[in-house]
Amino acid sequence: VDRADFIAGLPKAELHLHIEGSLEPEMLFALAKRNAVAIPFESVEAVRAAYEFSNLQDFLDIYYQGMSVLQTEQDFFDLTAAYLARAEADAVRHVEIFFDPQGHTERGVAFAVVIGGIARALDAARARGVTSRLIMCFLRHLDEAAAEATLDEALPYLAVIDGVGLDSSEVGHPPAKFARVFARARALGLKLVAHAGEEGPPAYVHEALDVLGVDRIDHGNRALEDAALVARLATGGMCLTVCPLSNHKLCVVDDLAAHPLRRMLDAGLVATVNSDDPAYFGGYVNANFVAVADALDLRRDEIVALARNSFAGSFLGETDKARHL
Ligand code: HPA
Ligand code: ZN
Repeated sequence: VDRADFIAGLPKAELHLHIEGSLEPEMLFALAKRNAVAIPFESVEAVRAAYEFSNLQDFLDIYYQGMSVLQTEQDFFDLTAAYLARAEADAVRHVEIFFDPQGHTERGVAFAVVIGGIARALDAARARGVTSRLIMCFLRHLDEAAAEATLDEALPYLAVIDGVGLDSSEVGHPPAKFARVFARARALGLKLVAHAGEEGPPAYVHEALDVLGVDRIDHGNRALEDAALVARLATGGMCLTVCPLSNHKLCVVDDLAAHPLRRMLDAGLVATVNSDDPAYFGGYVNANFVAVADALDLRRDEIVALARNSFAGSFLGETDKARHL
């Protein structure tokens, strides 16, 4: 079998997926119509043509604008159900999904509406054998008080929220800005993750570990600039949720052939492959595997290791992990 077929059939987990980033242009148009929300695009083709980014902020501006069509519980259900169907087609057996409540509550969409629709779709997938975790992200360009208020709003839903994360504009918003709210999330028994080292320096990765005490690092590319940090991540078995097509689209790497994934594997890091915001970056998880495996000429055993890492680095319990490993 060729490499793409091998990847297609390989059971895997996806650990870095922003559900709002799975909003395909077709659904953007359909929901804009259903909810009578104006969008500044003439056609699906015009939307896709607008997805050219020079950095993270360029993308985030369009990503927050796209969210405006998400209004009702059914919208969040449809969005999540469409992602799950697509992931299942990629042999994804377990998903850990991020959502950005502040992107919705800020626009007057209730927290209950957002979480209700997402959780209902995750329940339906569970009935088909796809397990999941839900991770609530704080927008790091907003202040810590706003994150605290978001955690307060989440308290009635902790039965369906497994962890908290940190996303949005990284540079200028170091992890330590959220020290107190992460400490409170930890005390509530939540898992902790943070985007770090996507555009931000290795010091932000150190801070995510030392100050926030994260269980996983999202991206982590720039950790490779700091040999002591690489050793620390390797020794600690810290999982990195790497997103190759995202890195390329956001100019975190100039060329996929220069992607750090092989160096991460060679350094003994628990790296995984993920799609981040597949509707914006041009591919779901298998497309990410194929693109990076082709660009780096990854061997079969390396591809298998990446898939195993996705279960090993997940928040599944030991029994469920053992079932997949
Ligand atoms: N980085 C930071 N914030 C985000 C991303 C990302 O890749 N995707 C959605 N929000
Ligand atoms: Zn991300």
